[in-house]
Amino acid sequence: MTDRVTRVHKAVIPAAGYGTRFLPATKAQPKEMIPVVDRPAIQYVVDEAVGAGIDDITMIVSSGKESLADHFDRMLELERVLVEKGKTELYDEIRRLGELAQFSYVRQPEQLGLGHAVLCAAPAVGEESFAVLLGDDFLDERDPFLHRMIDLHERTGRAVIALMEVPEDQVHLYGCAAATPTDEDGVFELTDLIEKPSREEAPSNLAVIGRYVLPGEIFDVLAKTEKGRGGEIQLTDALRTLAQREPIYGIRFDGRRYDVGDKQGYLQATVQLALARDDLGPAFKRWLVEYVAGLE
Ligand code: G1P
Repeated sequence: MTDRVTRVHKAVIPAAGYGTRFLPATKAQPKEMIPVVDRPAIQYVVDEAVGAGIDDITMIVSSGKESLADHFDRMLELERVLVEKGKTELYDEIRRLGELAQFSYVRQPEQLGLGHAVLCAAPAVGEESFAVLLGDDFLDERDPFLHRMIDLHERTGRAVIALMEVPEDQVHLYGCAAATPTDEDGVFELTDLIEKPSREEAPSNLAVIGRYVLPGEIFDVLAKTEKGRGGEIQLTDALRTLAQREPIYGIRFDGRRYDVGDKQGYLQATVQLALARDDLGPAFKRWLVEYVAGLE
């Protein structure tokens, strides 16, 4: 245990990207607001953070992302209408969204990469440790994980990164870690990280998924990180520098994860999450089974 660790209660959610993979749906609305069943994708990510004890969230945004702030704000007129109509459950859900956490929004003036986006949060986060959650993937609420990363960070003071085993032909889509197992189940010490390596360059098939718990020092490292893969300032490169200085950790996630930044992943997530819902699942499953049976 080091003396620099306080309880992790802040999170940074980068949400400034254009969402080109989902055009034209993202021409006039943020990709984070695209619904998965009946909730915008960003709501799953925020719920995941709040479920792990986060109560202070900084979103990194760009122009055209104002609806993110509206979504997590109170909307008194709508609340009043729902009360008048006796729609109590909807009222509770809408009201809850306005009270989930303390939100602040920081503009990233230019899209210079994930590392740069996180660096934009420095004034809001200060020197304390914080979590980073990327919005393109989210983890199933039945497989909570962020709390485990926070716990490891609070015990060690070190950066903790979520990893997942991926097939070798997919490592080029992720940051990839050189990892040595520790005595703790699923916990690795990371000696190197490479952003989107080729199959030959990849040190393992342990891929970085979009969850990090980082010490405040990462901001100093990011400020000195040069442009890397794709001409962008990469968070992975800053973590690589940190790993050369002090041990950093990875934890392997074996649960259910949804990659909604990709069309195929988005469609799968929609089906899986709809099936998991008490209100929609049973009827949707009956229809789906019949539909699939009728294919070819
Ligand atoms: C980012 C990170 C990459 C990580 C990935 C996880 O890449 O740079 O290291 O593996 O998220 O989703 P992006 O997918 O934003 O290009």
